[in-house]
Amino acid sequence: MPQNLNKTLRTLCEDIQESDIGKKFTFKGWVMHYRDHGGLIFIDLRDYSGILQIVFDENIDKESFKIAKKLKNEYVVSITGTVRKRPQGTENTGLKTGSIEIISESVDVLNTCEVLPFQIDEENDVNEFTRLKYRYLDLRSKRLKENLIFRSNFTYLIRDFLNNKGFFDIETPFLTKSTPEGSRDFLVPSRLNEGHFFALPQSPQLFKQILMVSGFERYYQIVRCFRDEDLRSDRQPEFTQLDMEMSFVETEDIISITEDLFALIFNKLLNIKLEKPFKVLDYDEAMDKYGSDKPDTRFELLINNLTDTFTNSALNVFKDNIQKGGVIKAICLPNGSNLLSRKDIDELLNIVKDFGAKGLAWTKVGENGLLEGGIAKFISDDEREKTVARLGAKNGDIIFYQSDSKKTAESVLGRLRLHLAKTYGLIPEGRFDILWVVNFPLFEYSEEEKKIVSVHHPFTSPAEKDLNKLENNPLSVKSDSYDLVLNGEEIGGGSIRIHDTKLQGKIFEILSISPEEAKAKFGFLLDALSFGAPPHGGIAFGVDRILMLLKNENSIREVIAFPKTQKAYCPLTDAPSVVKDIQLRELGIKLRETAGKNLKSE
Ligand code: AMO
Repeated sequence: MPQNLNKTLRTLCEDIQESDIGKKFTFKGWVMHYRDHGGLIFIDLRDYSGILQIVFDENIDKESFKIAKKLKNEYVVSITGTVRKRPQGTENTGLKTGSIEIISESVDVLNTCEVLPFQIDEENDVNEFTRLKYRYLDLRSKRLKENLIFRSNFTYLIRDFLNNKGFFDIETPFLTKSTPEGSRDFLVPSRLNEGHFFALPQSPQLFKQILMVSGFERYYQIVRCFRDEDLRSDRQPEFTQLDMEMSFVETEDIISITEDLFALIFNKLLNIKLEKPFKVLDYDEAMDKYGSDKPDTRFELLINNLTDTFTNSALNVFKDNIQKGGVIKAICLPNGSNLLSRKDIDELLNIVKDFGAKGLAWTKVGENGLLEGGIAKFISDDEREKTVARLGAKNGDIIFYQSDSKKTAESVLGRLRLHLAKTYGLIPEGRFDILWVVNFPLFEYSEEEKKIVSVHHPFTSPAEKDLNKLENNPLSVKSDSYDLVLNGEEIGGGSIRIHDTKLQGKIFEILSISPEEAKAKFGFLLDALSFGAPPHGGIAFGVDRILMLLKNENSIREVIAFPKTQKAYCPLTDAPSVVKDIQLRELGIKLRETAGKNLKSE
């Protein structure tokens, strides 16, 4: 319950209880609901603490009643009155103050309100663009207000915990140089250095490493990061990280402090006891069984490998694919035959095509493990028995198969797994599954860039046991990194860093980053590392994502006070917007003819 900071002037709505019956108080707030019952007018008065019913009775105070007649939704009022018990049968058990009401003895209108574009707390029918345009009204709703207060409690708890553990909160610049998180940068032109640009930080990665070189040993920051990437419900162009870095640590230390922090958050904010240590999943196993490096482990529907079963398949697509080094993988949807019509199965084909699949093979499971429909007629008895046994398939289930490269088959089935779970309600409500994914590869081959790239970022340390593979088989090298996953969302990630300039040089070489390019891009970090850098490592958490999950929201926009739309547009302020020619001229910038012709929209 919030503290009333100005008690002499007013009392908060939800501070009042039955023990106050007969006492007189002054309340200030907004008219939430208004009901005129002839000689009686009722309003629900709302302030930041909650809601209180006020009654204006013509027979008790004529003046108040006259003013109340003119009140409208969201007028701002000051009301003085006496607390009384609500008449029997009119209590509202949904309200904290539902057994009492205030009988008004005087009312002042502090401000009026225009006709509202939508009613507060009835946002369901309102489109999001309108909600964001009038965000100040949207934020008056109970849900958003609670979300932001929860956010405030969440960051307070984090700061308290880390300050007590000897961490220093140190700010790092926003006007800086591009950082290597791998997204597109937001650029800021420099007036004093015409033709030169700052980049807004994608994270404070390089600065926090430099702070370790400076000897701070334990750093944290709750900090805004900026990434110009395609937006989704779990992404914003500016978002908040809890960013941490520590010296003289190993992976276990970072894992341990993270688990203590999350156990505290769940305990204090949700009254949930998290089991420690958290589950740990190997990256390879996550990809193999869940088709994702951020597996949702709240439900099964695991992916199985059937490659060895189908090496001599009568289906040429299966056989040829295996001969080319591909795999056959499958998932089994329990009771699928009752859940999906034939039309639903056909529609799934279009859905998996969007996931990158070439097709979708399926069979139903009948009595005695017999397979029916789809590709059943191409499956031999031996293949059938092995398939049913491996998947643990039962009468009424449906099996979906993917024949493709390992990467594509796993990714498609991983996404199909989530789609089926969401569509057919396989995800238990109210459950939180938190786990670590470890042993990520250090590098991957980017088809797009036609070169080896870092899976995390180029300062991630290779696993010590794999150092000897760096030269000849870099793609098989694992890293000393870890991701934290909650309910299938990546909520954090970090690594032990390279603190040795020679090893760092080797990594740049593998990444085809020339010494000149490395110097130009991150020379300052490389210089710093050469001046006695301690071994160090860290992690960063997506604050908005964590809050979205803890508050059971579908989008991170619901836990951010002033978010942008999917098109990175702010309807409230109309940003981004065009600027005056003179501003551009000062920056030495001339726009192309076509620039600015695209309309901003939802
Ligand atoms: P990474 O890039 O994994 O690591 O980011 C850390 C966490 O930030 C969250 N996140 C986002 N949240 C909302 N919108 C976005 N656009 C967005 N992008 C990322 C995710 C993610 O897990 N410097 C490294 C950390 C380190 O190595 O210490 C980093 O930024 O929850």
